[in-house]
Amino acid sequence: MERIRVHLEKSCKDSYDILIGEDVMGRAELVTKIKNHADRYVIVTDSDVNPLFGEVVKEKLKETALPVDIIEIPAGEASKSLNTVLEVAKQLVELRVSRKSLLIALGGGVVGDVTGFIASIYMRSIPYVQIPTTLLAQVDSSVGGKTGVDLPEGKNLLGTFYQPKAVYVDLSFLKTLSDKDFANGLAEIIKYGIIGSHDLFELLELEKDGIKKRSPSLMKSLIARSCKIKADIVEMDEKELGLRRILNFGHTLGHALEASSGYSLFHGEAVSIGMVGAAKISHKLNYLDGDSCTRIIDLIKEYELPVKIPAGMETSRIVAFMETDKKVVAGRLHFVLVKEIGVPFVTPDIPSDVVVETIEELRG
Ligand SMILES: NC(=O)c1ccc[n+]([C@@H]2O[C@H](COP(=O)([O-])OP(=O)(O)OC[C@H]3O[C@@H](n4cnc5c(N)ncnc54)[C@H](O)[C@@H]3O)[C@@H](O)[C@H]2O)c1
Repeated sequence: MERIRVHLEKSCKDSYDILIGEDVMGRAELVTKIKNHADRYVIVTDSDVNPLFGEVVKEKLKETALPVDIIEIPAGEASKSLNTVLEVAKQLVELRVSRKSLLIALGGGVVGDVTGFIASIYMRSIPYVQIPTTLLAQVDSSVGGKTGVDLPEGKNLLGTFYQPKAVYVDLSFLKTLSDKDFANGLAEIIKYGIIGSHDLFELLELEKDGIKKRSPSLMKSLIARSCKIKADIVEMDEKELGLRRILNFGHTLGHALEASSGYSLFHGEAVSIGMVGAAKISHKLNYLDGDSCTRIIDLIKEYELPVKIPAGMETSRIVAFMETDKKVVAGRLHFVLVKEIGVPFVTPDIPSDVVVETIEELRG
């Protein structure tokens, strides 16, 4: 027998910057930095974002004196599909996009996830950058390199870990964002406060009026703190083998609620109720004190996010969705709980009667 070893010990050069500011798109740095990556650019965006910002970004990129094209996909979660991947890939081939070209994901989490996925598989991978335009994408989906599309059987079932070359967060994009999408992002920021930073949690408590008015200085601070928490976690556990799972705080129950509502509950709403559930379970199992549990619930209410499960959702159905979740390991449902605000942990040891009792308590 012959043995030939394929040596693949790698030194990884995937580090990247997240730039956050009020006029990132107007800065020369965008062009000088981005120029290093490619011989041409293709902006992938959606049908809502393109009319708002497509040309603005295209004009800016033209300062590189390199070709810039735009590919538009329909706005909405339905575009996170293999059909979109095939459609976009065909257009990339028609445009003669090569491995030296750079894809630019301009949009919310849908555009970011699909574009990152295409970048990771087109010609066995080409570089991409993220220009997130929703609050959720700015604090969450654009950072960390999780890419993917949905299958009819479930969300995010096909995907890769593939890091962008840079993330450009321009606060001015938030001006046109709907209240619903703003609240979606705020729910994730509240999550970062609960799992990662008591200071961030306090800032959310103290500055709620300014935050609700989308004050640029406050938003910059919230986004930077959130991205730092996510970046620190991703640095330690890029492929979600352990620690990164704490980012799922509120999502175990949240995803089940989203699914059992037939996706009529939006993600931020479902996660908010899920965070209340996780806080209550943390308290019931004597990890979290009552005052902290109340503070968490009050903060979610302050931002007009829901804390109760809407009528018409059966507990058994919610539990069944939880059991088919990706967070089930070796048949045991893993829950993220907190010992105090800013101190999370993951545990498989949640008695099912506590979960059921908590769901019942969460009814409106
Ligand atoms: N990769 C990750 O780590 C990660 C993390 C969290 C969520 N996600 C994914 O993100 C997706 C949700 O992302 P989302 O909430 O950004 O939704 P989205 O991308 O569908 O955007 C929501 C809507 O806002 C519009 N929009 C975007 N920017 C706008 C702006 N500045 N002004 C006005 N309208 C704007 C979009 O066109 C869309 O209609 C889900 O598919 C979810 O699975 C991924």
